[in-house]
Amino acid sequence: RIGPELLSDPAKLREELKPAAAILREGGVVAFPTETVYGLGADARSTAAVEAVFAAKGRPSDNPLIVHIANRGGLDGLVKAVSPAAQRLMDAFWPGPLTIVLPVQPGALSPRVTAGLDTVGIRMPDHPVALALIAESGCPVAAPSANRSGRPSPTLAGHVMEDLAGTIGGIVDGGATGVGVESTVVQVAEDGSVIVLRPGGVTLEQLSQAAGAPVRLDPALLPDAGSDHIEAPRAPGMKYTHYAPKGVLRIVTGPSAAGVSDWISRSLREAAARGERTGVLAFEEHIGRYQADCIESLGSLSDLSAAAHRLYAALRRMDEEGIGFILSEACPEEGLGAAIMNRLRKAAGQRVVRLG
Ligand code: TXA
Ligand code: MG
Repeated sequence: RIGPELLSDPAKLREELKPAAAILREGGVVAFPTETVYGLGADARSTAAVEAVFAAKGRPSDNPLIVHIANRGGLDGLVKAVSPAAQRLMDAFWPGPLTIVLPVQPGALSPRVTAGLDTVGIRMPDHPVALALIAESGCPVAAPSANRSGRPSPTLAGHVMEDLAGTIGGIVDGGATGVGVESTVVQVAEDGSVIVLRPGGVTLEQLSQAAGAPVRLDPALLPDAGSDHIEAPRAPGMKYTHYAPKGVLRIVTGPSAAGVSDWISRSLREAAARGERTGVLAFEEHIGRYQADCIESLGSLSDLSAAAHRLYAALRRMDEEGIGFILSEACPEEGLGAAIMNRLRKAAGQRVVRLG
């Protein structure tokens, strides 16, 4: 447990993290906080350590892991080249919630990290505990989110405990994470444009400002890319159902907020009358309109950072409360809204109710 007093004292923090860093160095697996979600870390050069991460998560082996570094020097030897556009993105957003997919230097990392691809996703997290742990370990740290595969990502150490207690070497508890949704994953295309493989903590708008090049979303991720689209997402992880609560979640959208609220209220009443336990995810502006067994606020529509921060914990709460019937409001897909709606749609298995 890292108390807040340690966060402002780098020397003491590193001292405190020595045991966790030693576990990483010796090929063990440790969960740690980042500014986005908790990660499950291992030495990215050790195939045995990386395999232990896949095993603990129950993660499909074709889904590559992100490698975390503590400083620019950490990139040395890991990648073949950094294009000028990639360099600009690092300058603008590192440390921060941006993962950049780069050509991997053959032999630098366990091939299990990249799942056989010739690229690797790299990021420098903006969290004092993550940075100190990585620096102290001296390893490039491969870390997916520290949840069982398919569960909502952990934003508290307790979430990691729920999913992984007993299967990993330890958890560094640094309190609640900040952003609450994962990093944005990007790749620079041959023509210099930036392709967003996974929307996340850095918004498309922020990327466009910094990149000095066109920024576009991987077409496979567009909201209306139905099951019949032919292109597989470029980030292998984006094809899996994910973040899903145990109950059935539906997203409700429509041209009028009042119409959406009426439909949700009625559906919750009908489900309750059938004897189901009901839950609703709603924005502060409308939350007073609903009655359900579990009501989770996503904060105000005027500041979507609260929704990002709360989303995964809210989904987990539905499970804790044994909710079988869950409805969620939607938000505009601007700014952080793109990442929030991407995760909500995945959690809902793409079940979206569109009112006329
Ligand atoms: O915020 C985050 O990124 C968190 C924290 C712990 O850093 N990590 C995280 O890792 O979300 P994970 O493994 O749950 O998600 C990694 C995503 C997956 O969708 C994966 O397919 C994609 O990044 N990815 C990783 N390497 C890639 C590569 N070389 N090419 C394309 N996609 C890649
Ligand atoms: Mg994940």
